[in-house]
Amino acid sequence: LLSQTKALPLHGKRVLVTAGGTREMIDPVRYISNRSSGKMGYAVAQAAREMGADVTLISAPTALTKPAGVHYVEINSAEELATTVKAHFDATDLLVMAAAVSDFRPVQAVDQKIKKQPGQNGMTLELAETEDILKTLAPLKQHQFVVGFAAETQNLLANAEKKLAAKKLDMLVANDVSKPGVGFNGDTNQVTLLTPNSTPVTTNLLSKQAIAQTILKAAIERGA
Ligand code: CTP
Ligand code: CA
Repeated sequence: LLSQTKALPLHGKRVLVTAGGTREMIDPVRYISNRSSGKMGYAVAQAAREMGADVTLISAPTALTKPAGVHYVEINSAEELATTVKAHFDATDLLVMAAAVSDFRPVQAVDQKIKKQPGQNGMTLELAETEDILKTLAPLKQHQFVVGFAAETQNLLANAEKKLAAKKLDMLVANDVSKPGVGFNGDTNQVTLLTPNSTPVTTNLLSKQAIAQTILKAAIERGA
């Protein structure tokens, strides 16, 4: 049994996965979020566990069952996600940033429910940009292999190449979320894997479980 365990491709590796869409509170009962279901990140966490890794999953709230045998940390906002990822980064060999991080948060999170006023004609919500977690981590990278995701609705390859370089990633998983069966919410996905100095590789439309295995195998091949 021991020799079988050691033969697993991620044995001894510490894998950190982020998943789900962050929630930016407007008031105690309302938030800004996005269409992420968390399924892709959960599939990566589970696949990494099956490949023998010591896995930590940092997740925004989702409707999913936590994968067995995985350390689980729940966060809400982009800020909490940033703090938690940074705290784990030193003790990480492979980071897979599948979370859909809100790019903007309300400047003020008010502590009482906002009431509508008689005669009020609409309202304006002031937003501030959140920290780009992958950009923050780029200069702190030592032994870590870092995988980012990119959800695009147009110019997939050009946008993805830019993100790969700007965030100094070892791999970028790009999906065209405007295509049926791709990206948010479904159980299938089709992705293009980009790495520095090599030709992008596009998978078939596969289950998120199979996509997760493909991503991890590609990361291992490239030195994770
Ligand atoms: N990401 C991050 N911190 C943020 C926003 C995104 O670390 N504040 C990460 C995501 O987890 C993902 C990658 O960056 O792995 C790309 O996210 P994406 O939203 O596609 O790219 P952005 O850089 O936010 O650019 P845009 O949304 O404008 O396309
Ligand atoms: Ca974004």
